[in-house]
Amino acid sequence: MSTFSKMQKAIYSSSSTRIIGATKAIVGLTLTVRGLEAVAGIGSRCRVFGRTGVVDGEVVGADGSDLCVLPFGTWEGIAVGDPVELIEMDDMIYPDDSWIGSVVDALGRPLSKYARARRPRRKSSFKVQPPGAFERKKVGEKLETQIKCIDVFTPICRGQRMGVFAGSGVGKSTMMAMLARNTDADVIVIGLIGERGREVQQFIHEDLGPEGMARAVVVVSTGDEAPLLRKQAALTTTAIAEYFKSTGKQVLLLLDSVTRFAMAQREIGLARGEPPTLRGYPPSVFSEMPHLLERAGPGREGEGDITALYTVLVDGDDMNEPIADAVRGIVDGHLVLDRRIAEQGRFPAVDLQKSLSRMLPGCHSPEEFEITKAARKALARYADMEDLIRLGAYKAGSDPATDEAIRFFSAASPYLSQSRGDRMPASESFADMYRMILESGIEDPLRAFFEQADRQKQDAAEPGAAA
Ligand SMILES: Nc1ncnc2c1ncn2[C@@H]1O[C@H](COP(=O)(O)OP(=O)(O)OP(=O)(O)O)[C@@H](O)[C@H]1O
Ligand SMILES: [Mg+2]
Repeated sequence: MSTFSKMQKAIYSSSSTRIIGATKAIVGLTLTVRGLEAVAGIGSRCRVFGRTGVVDGEVVGADGSDLCVLPFGTWEGIAVGDPVELIEMDDMIYPDDSWIGSVVDALGRPLSKYARARRPRRKSSFKVQPPGAFERKKVGEKLETQIKCIDVFTPICRGQRMGVFAGSGVGKSTMMAMLARNTDADVIVIGLIGERGREVQQFIHEDLGPEGMARAVVVVSTGDEAPLLRKQAALTTTAIAEYFKSTGKQVLLLLDSVTRFAMAQREIGLARGEPPTLRGYPPSVFSEMPHLLERAGPGREGEGDITALYTVLVDGDDMNEPIADAVRGIVDGHLVLDRRIAEQGRFPAVDLQKSLSRMLPGCHSPEEFEITKAARKALARYADMEDLIRLGAYKAGSDPATDEAIRFFSAASPYLSQSRGDRMPASESFADMYRMILESGIEDPLRAFFEQADRQKQDAAEPGAAA
């Protein structure tokens, strides 16, 4: 860098200098600004002085001397030729323990009566690199959720990231709230992105309730907010979770939904002229997503972990749409909520055949895993035969394995149904599953363990017999 450009930079960055540009064009969300290209880069914040008020925005693209700026709101009242100033905006948040129990907006500012009292102390950046692969601990022990079907069939471990794939109205928010209330974690950080305003209130007051709020931080950005803010909300949620993780806490991060984050990034990408690809999503969506999702996971030695659940909206239950596909490739397991199951009234409407935790079998004990395997096998058998059974084309008694599966399904299906307030320790869920397996006539999955225990007991009783 030449001495001249160093001086130029120093002058530009001096706080007493005001550098003013001007708006050149406004097309949709995109505002083109001239005159700031020497000082503003991607991510710089600027303030536009319109006739009716000021609007802040962020630089998201540049083309020669034209900067592409998106608003933290709308460009209402802004006209061509209006002055634009580069502003110093803190892109840090300063979370601390007093944030627990509060609701904040996309920029980490407290909302409504959930305001927090004390001064923040430590800063956390919105945009940090995820820890390197070799710096992380391994995924930890099982995290008990007290939700029967999750604890038994798709267990979650500390530091694991799960995708929750579901269409609209299938019970995502209710399940998130159940996890927030019941899971064995120190702090729950919840990001509600692109939700309807009415639902936010309902989620906080009814689903989560005072008990859930007592250890939660909720970040809210409703669907009517600017795409920059909706995207920011996901980054803020993650930054808050990272703060608590760095203090050694076990954090549960719930982001509802990652699809709305992708949609916000789509609007940003298209506004700055990126080409639309799959379903109109520009390439930056697929590069931003792994970056966001990788920030969760196990922490470094001495830190806590971020266990994360990301909901993905699947349009018309199409599990292969691009966002679902991308998320599935990143996370360590997925829960699929099925509309048909919800319509039958079984909630949480988890499709056990399609849901999977990549932490199995390691995170179950060998006995638990055998119970899960036997139950899964019987349910898969039932699913294969379901149409025939419903049509009455299957005759009871013609196949013993199917008869056992039918008996097991009719006991397990209502059992796995769990209303909002219900909770069940994982050990009891396993005991009940085991009992239902035996009562259905399925071969005892733990027989080998009992036989081995008997042998050991015998050997201990007659130490000379083996010799
Ligand atoms: N565990 C449950 N027990 C009983 N009913 C439930 C349960 N979970 C969900 N429901 C029912 O399903 C409805 C939709 O649930 P919820 O709002 O959680 O779905 P959602 O997937 O978040 O919806 P949206 O896509 O609109 O955000 C609820 O109004 C409720 O009637
Ligand atoms: Mg919802």
